[in-house]
Amino acid sequence: MEKIPYDEILDIQRKVDIVDVISEYLHLEQKGKNYFAICPFHDDHNPSMSISKEKQIYTCFVCGASGNVFNFVMNYEHISFAEAVLKVAQKAGIGLSVKNISKTIVKESKYDKFYKMFEIANKYYQNNIKTVYGKAASDYLNKRGITPAEIKEFEIGLSLNDNNVNKLLKSKGFDESDIVDIGLCGKKDNFIYDTFRNRIMFPLHDSTGNVIGFSGRIYNGEDDSKYVNSKESVIFKKGKLLYNYKRAINYAKEEKQIIVVEGFMDVIRLSTIGIKNVVATMGTAITKDHADLLRRLSKNIILCFDGDKAGQKATLAAIEVLEKIDITPKIIRLEEDLDPDDYVIKKGKEAFLNHLKNPMSLLQFKIDIEKKKTDFNDYNDISNYVNNIAGELEKINDKVVYELTVKKISKETGLDVETINSLISNIPKKERKIITKPKSIKKNKYEKAEEYLIYYMLKKEDVILLYQNKVSYLTNKKLAMIAIKILEFYEQKHYINVTDFSLFLQDEDELIKEVLRIDGLNMPDEVDDKVIEEYIKTIDEGILKREIEKTKNKISMEQDTIKKVILLEKLATLKKKECK
Ligand code: CTP
Ligand code: MN
Repeated sequence: MEKIPYDEILDIQRKVDIVDVISEYLHLEQKGKNYFAICPFHDDHNPSMSISKEKQIYTCFVCGASGNVFNFVMNYEHISFAEAVLKVAQKAGIGLSVKNISKTIVKESKYDKFYKMFEIANKYYQNNIKTVYGKAASDYLNKRGITPAEIKEFEIGLSLNDNNVNKLLKSKGFDESDIVDIGLCGKKDNFIYDTFRNRIMFPLHDSTGNVIGFSGRIYNGEDDSKYVNSKESVIFKKGKLLYNYKRAINYAKEEKQIIVVEGFMDVIRLSTIGIKNVVATMGTAITKDHADLLRRLSKNIILCFDGDKAGQKATLAAIEVLEKIDITPKIIRLEEDLDPDDYVIKKGKEAFLNHLKNPMSLLQFKIDIEKKKTDFNDYNDISNYVNNIAGELEKINDKVVYELTVKKISKETGLDVETINSLISNIPKKERKIITKPKSIKKNKYEKAEEYLIYYMLKKEDVILLYQNKVSYLTNKKLAMIAIKILEFYEQKHYINVTDFSLFLQDEDELIKEVLRIDGLNMPDEVDDKVIEEYIKTIDEGILKREIEKTKNKISMEQDTIKKVILLEKLATLKKKECK
């Protein structure tokens, strides 16, 4: 692939702010000059990634992931560097200057054709609902309080009892096998037919906004299954998808909280009362992937599943998954077994908002469940009750909350506070995984000198010139490569700074990481030429030492006497140099 002109990249980079771009993907917290986020590139539990507004660079101090705005988008979305540049440019509304870049993206993402097929089907379904054939479906939705505004916002459509998706896609040149593979159509005895018929269609988007599947709901007549989903494909995995994720990103950021419900209609209903920081699990159990997606939106997660027994079970299961990644969600339990959709219809907006303002703590939720099972006149029941909630009490970090809770339980059960306390201390403290910074391997003085030299080359032109004139080479291959790139950059641009240099390196992730690691070393900003000369001397010593080692090795292996003598002479000269 052709390289994108550096000046174009620089231009785009200067027009965007890495903080804005990353905040579209991750929840950021500002601390002083920097912003922090849960690092998406490793299994992070605390915000380990810092984003520097000043340098326009992100760095994770745990896994070492780092780079500029394009590297972030590239790595986060698993796309090429050129695609990332284009994407960032589009986000920033920079259209003109990227013509060249579009041309360089010769290779499309291998899933692009699938996304296109879904998009075409989506448009087709959306159009159907507006036609006369869509009257019954839109009447049905209207009766449920879903207005044309929601139909538009959620891209709700309608599949008809025809084979038009199949025909449409074939007419646009898509392969029958692809159409079947992604589940828009099925095939039986050489006859190809549309999968979705006579259903209200909900498009399912991935986290970047591509349609990757559908769910269709019956609306007239009877059918065994209320909802039919696209079959799983290379791009659609139900366990990795949350309905409404993309749309909810910004709302979750604004509200600093994300609400998780079970169904499509719950999401849409809450939207009608202005609550838009909502995603749905689509009736499946929360997976680790779901949890990771949620954590990207906010650490403040509210589980608001259906009010029935199944909803309670799903809540408990979700808690377990979330606790594994150190998230303690809050819980809303709706009365009368209602789901959020029915609840808002039956009890009204205010009643729901009231729940939202006062969600239960996890502790309260678990104690409530146990309490409902307990007959407080039965000693065995009380024993079970206290033992069952002991594990939850154990998790309380706040002394005040702990004491108040135990006092309350003491009152309920008639047990002494001491007795309850004694049960708690019997439970071993849960071991917490602590991720520490990976231990850096001890470097010798020669290796250090090479690093420090690069450190100052990244900052000072005269150090680059010193390098050019006085250093033969660096023994560390990565550092040697960086030095060459710095010279190249400087020759073209006649200046140096880390951020712009990282843009120059484009998709050379490993080099960028190393550059930013070195840039992050704790070194004084100002440096005397003498210090640099000292580094160069040390580097030379290192090279000499290596030469001597190599020559010694060769001598021990050499069979030919004459050659051996020549090598011995060389060794003598090298050693003489070393003594100087
Ligand atoms: N679901 C599904 N397949 C099914 C049933 C349900 O994928 N056969 C998913 C849908 O995303 C649905 C969610 O699970 O929205 C919750 O299911 P359910 O509570 O049965 O549906 P509701 O959301 O209440 O849907 P509606 O109000 O339209 O009846
Ligand atoms: Mn419902």
